[in-house]
Order: sequence, then structure tokens, then C-alpha cells
Amino acid sequence: MIGFGCGSVLGRFGRRDSLRALHSAYDRGIRYFDVARSYGFGEAETLLGGFLRGRRRSEVCLTTKFGILPPRHRLLLRMLKPIARKALSIAPVPRDRLKSTVVRVAPVSTGNFDVVTARRSLEQSLAALQTDYVDFYLLHSCQPEDLNDDELFAFLDECVERGLVRHIGVSYEGFDLERLLPLSRSGLKLIQVPLDVRDHRRVDLLNAQEAAVVTHSPFGGGPVPARILEFATASEERKRSWSDRLGIDVSAPGTIGKLMLSHAIEFNLRGVVLCSMHSESHLGQNVECAESRQFSEEVLLGFRELVDEYSHQVEKVDAAPALLRADR
Ligand SMILES: NC(=O)c1ccc[n+]([C@@H]2O[C@H](COP(=O)([O-])OP(=O)(O)OC[C@H]3O[C@@H](n4cnc5c(N)ncnc54)[C@H](OP(=O)(O)O)[C@@H]3O)[C@@H](O)[C@H]2O)c1
Repeated sequence: MIGFGCGSVLGRFGRRDSLRALHSAYDRGIRYFDVARSYGFGEAETLLGGFLRGRRRSEVCLTTKFGILPPRHRLLLRMLKPIARKALSIAPVPRDRLKSTVVRVAPVSTGNFDVVTARRSLEQSLAALQTDYVDFYLLHSCQPEDLNDDELFAFLDECVERGLVRHIGVSYEGFDLERLLPLSRSGLKLIQVPLDVRDHRRVDLLNAQEAAVVTHSPFGGGPVPARILEFATASEERKRSWSDRLGIDVSAPGTIGKLMLSHAIEFNLRGVVLCSMHSESHLGQNVECAESRQFSEEVLLGFRELVDEYSHQVEKVDAAPALLRADR
């Protein structure tokens, strides 16, 4: 199953485009939405809540997160965002450079997993999302040590008892999943991690979890399908060998993206794969991909091996995903 990641809502995309994407995702049957207190510089939850108002709450699965505080000076940022988006549409800059600029201009505070923040954040999330409960409440990009905080977990358990939160979970960005697993707290029902075809060595570890697994960033945050395509089609010979190996034309528009998403879905069949997808074409393609499961496991394993070759030669790593994380 795929879910709609709100990481770009009111960030990379403005109000009109974000609402259009939410409408389109909902109309195509997507019912899992992932957001966080910090997304959209603290405003994404409000937009999502407004969008969901009037829709049947019980049909939607809502995940939000706490621990990363939105930047201050929100009013100033609200004025600056449209100007920045306009400038970027005229002179685009690479995604990683854009991210580091945003972090400099609007720094966020991370690792805030104290009870006071958790309580305030949940109150703000529920108000912004216009709901009585969230389905999953996650520690946003936590460290393994954060799971040892008894006071925090007593508070979170109480939120579950009061019906404000259905389930508690964690999102973890580190590659060294072994440090986090097995989840030391039986109350944790969901683990959310980045995973794309370059990271495939973690698949078995994740599939062995009792907690639900949500993977995000199947396109490596965005730039990776184009890079793989460039590599795969760098010469006629390589294009032919990749295409012959998989039995499909890898240069056909959208094929690498479909393969990447299909890989993420195929190896997390019980869970959810979160994508950011604001363009109509991506949204349509991703929904179709999730519904059709058009590639066999054999093709996806073949793709994985070809991507290892790409990782080794272009990213100069032996499919060691810890080093690939600069993309995110
Ligand atoms: N700590 C955490 O829990 C955490 C961290 C990061 C992300 N997330 C969640 O995961 C979601 C996705 O993460 P992400 O945005 O980093 O990664 P992503 O989904 O891998 O990348 C999104 C980028 O890929 C493009 N894209 C979408 N479909 C495509 C396709 N079929 N082919 C090629 N490109 C495609 C999107 O373009 P358009 O948008 O222009 O269509 C966008 O530029 C976030 O929105 C957020 O909800 C959670």
C-alpha cells in the first residue's frame, strides 16, 4: 500500500498545489497520510486537517510525529515562501543544496522528546488536524537512547489509554537499524524508516519485525530515478544490457521510478510505502504501480542487482546505504 507523505506540503509546494495533490491522492483512493508537527514550517497539519474536514475520519489513517519543532518566525517565513518558490521556478537549484539552505534560513530544533513537548505537540497536532485522535504518534527521527525514557513512555501510554493516540511508533533515520531493533518497548507498534532499492540489505531485518513497517522515500528523496536512468542509458550497450536483463525498455518514460516504487512495495507487502508526489503524473503513476504490481519478483531482484552496479560505480559505494544518505 502507498501513503501520501506531506513532507512537501506548504514547503516545496504552496497552498494551491498542496491541496490539489491532496484532493487528487484522496480521489485515487489513498487513505494513509503522514505528516509531522514540523512539516510545512509548522503549517502542513493545519492544511491537511482542513482538507480532511467533512471526510469520514474512520476511513483515514493519520500519522503525525513530534520531537522536531517547527522554526520560529513563522509569519515572516509565510511571506518569504512564495517568493522563494517563484525564484526556484525560474532558477532551480539541486535538492540537497536547497535543503541545506532551508536549514540555514529556518533552523529547526530536533530531538525534543521530553514530556512537555510531547504533550504540547499532541495538543497542537489534534487542534490543527481537527480530530480527536491520531492513528499513529511517532517520535520523529529519534535515537535508540530516546526509547529508554520511562517518563515519556508513561505519558504516551496514557495518551493511548485516553484514546488520543491509537498507537505509538518511531521514525528512525539512522542506517544502523540493529541499534534500534528489536524495539525494546512492546508498546511500539510502528517503525518508519527510509528505504529505497539501494538499501535492500535492510529488507530482511525489517520484515522480521512484529511492529508495522512504514518505509519512506522510495525515490531516495527525488533525484535518484534520474541518476539511475542516466547511468543505465549512458551507452547503447548498457541500455540494451539493462533492458535485456529485465525484459523491459528501461529508457521508457517513468520506468525507473516505477521499478523503484515497485521494489519498495514488493519488499514491504504488509506495510506502507510513503511517497511525496505532488505532480499529477507521479501521483497517477504511483497509484497505478501500487494497484497493478506489474513487475515480477524476479524482475525486481534483477533491478536490485543492476542498481548495486550503479551504486558501486556512480555513488562509489558497495551498496553501503549509510553513505547514500546525503540524498535525504
Ligand atoms: N523521519 C521521517 O519520518 C521522514 C523523513 C523523510 C520523509 N518522510 C515521509 O516520507 C515522504 C516521502 O519522502 P521524500 O519526499 O523524502 O522522498 P520520495 O518520496 O522518495 O521523493 C519525493 C520526490 O520524488 C518525486 N517522485 C514521486 N513519484 C515519482 C516517480 N514515480 N518517479 C520519479 N520521481 C517521483 C516527487 O516529485 P513530485 O512531488 O514533484 O511529484 C518528489 O520530488 C515524506 O513526504 C514524508 O511524509 C518521513
